Amino acid sequence: MNQYTVATLLKETNFKEVHIKGWVRTFRANRFIALNDGSTINNIQCVVDFENTDENILKRITTGAAVAITGDLVESQGKGQSVEIAVTNIEILGDSDAETYPIQPKKHTFEFLRENAHLRTRTNTFSAVMRLRSALSFAIHKYFNDNGFYYMHTPIITGSDAEGAGEMFRVSALDPKNPPLTEDGDVNYKEDFFGKETNLTVSGQLEAETYAMSLGKVYTFGPTFRAENSNTSRHLAEFWMIEPEVAFMDLAGNMDLAEDFMKSVITYVLENCQDDLQFLDDRLFNEEKTKPQAERSEMRLIEKLKFVTENNFKRVSYTEAIDILRNSKPNKKKKFKYIIEEWGADLQSEHERFLVEKHFKSPVILFDYPANIKAFYMRLNEDGKTVRAMDILFPGIGEIVGGSQREERLDVLKEKMAALDIPEEELWWYLDLRKYGTAVHSGFGLGFERLVMFASGMTNIRDVIPYPRTPQNAEF
Ligand code: 4AD
Ligand code: MG
Repeated sequence: MNQYTVATLLKETNFKEVHIKGWVRTFRANRFIALNDGSTINNIQCVVDFENTDENILKRITTGAAVAITGDLVESQGKGQSVEIAVTNIEILGDSDAETYPIQPKKHTFEFLRENAHLRTRTNTFSAVMRLRSALSFAIHKYFNDNGFYYMHTPIITGSDAEGAGEMFRVSALDPKNPPLTEDGDVNYKEDFFGKETNLTVSGQLEAETYAMSLGKVYTFGPTFRAENSNTSRHLAEFWMIEPEVAFMDLAGNMDLAEDFMKSVITYVLENCQDDLQFLDDRLFNEEKTKPQAERSEMRLIEKLKFVTENNFKRVSYTEAIDILRNSKPNKKKKFKYIIEEWGADLQSEHERFLVEKHFKSPVILFDYPANIKAFYMRLNEDGKTVRAMDILFPGIGEIVGGSQREERLDVLKEKMAALDIPEEELWWYLDLRKYGTAVHSGFGLGFERLVMFASGMTNIRDVIPYPRTPQNAEF
């Protein structure tokens, strides 16, 4: 273990001899090393006494090289830093060939960096995003732990389709070239590893429900897989989802929980990730400046995060939202041109953006959606046509949370499954929850990467997860 990190040294006021290991970001004038060790967005300046340093060593201080430095921590003469290290000894731990090293000290495009995902966290932007991702993950566990929830590990390999959307990755141990066949010539999954068809989970919700109905308040936080072929900046084939589930809680309670939770985790990073957020805020601000005035974001990143923590989310029923959309005039600049919608249709992202960014200018919780556009397990309302669903829409992101009160009545749930051709044999254990001690219960799913996008201001979901999985892309 290093005795110090760059983060601790930059706050140190006790001038003394220090040892530090890290990677060279830049080496200027044969004299000034900007050293980073991942502990902070900031580098520490290490000043090399080049006249008394072996020329062979000087040559090997290149961008990307790993070094061990001993020196005296002194007050800095330069601007923008309080301390620096006057190097007394430098050891090259790992060379980095300046000619071939992909991460040159210049601005790279995100496309280029995606192709070098194994090295991209060596840039300021990606190291800041990944530290923020780690902090958000911690804040989520902390929130639930502080509020009496139990963390459940739900299975990755499942025999059911929780969302009923059929967008699953098959898990099979059969030889694809020579699978066993049934008499009808179909692949015989009875002879597969699990004796049935299995897939990677699309959601841990159904299993979380079983635990909520005994432990009361639970949550999952795990990888989730969707074989939806949507090549957008908001979809991944492998993403992480947080799914709380609570017994005896209705839809209104679910909205309260989701809003409090979102505000709490964003407050946590505002308080604990100031340097990274400031860097990302400046980065985004500079990027926005390159856009035409009309397209620029009205708020800076940190302002936007504070706005979310300080203002109530607008709660609007689907039906009210449709009325708003119908009564809105198409925008002259054609940015939101398809804003007229029929009752019963699913909202497209331009509708969501209109509601959040133009009409309410605030996060929105949309609830009571038409039953036919939502999953089978949602609680049917008394009107017989809407369900107690809720989606939370965030500016710049669109849907960030999807949740509902669950159908707790056995007969209604069975009718719904029959109408959708979902065999009862497949979900007999889920139906048991309604047979034995059923009760009102609710929960939601937060797409973790969408939260990281919002908090970091990154606009492509591929840039907030270490190794993105998207159609035609699983290089790493
Ligand atoms: O709305 P979804 O599909 O809801 C569920 O899976 C429920 N079982 C959740 C629950 O009630 N426990 O997904 C929930 C969230 C979405 O709002 C979105 O943020 C994210 O997961 N999400 C994705 N994120 C990245 N890539 C994808 N392909 C995503 N699909 C959904
Ligand atoms: Mg959804």
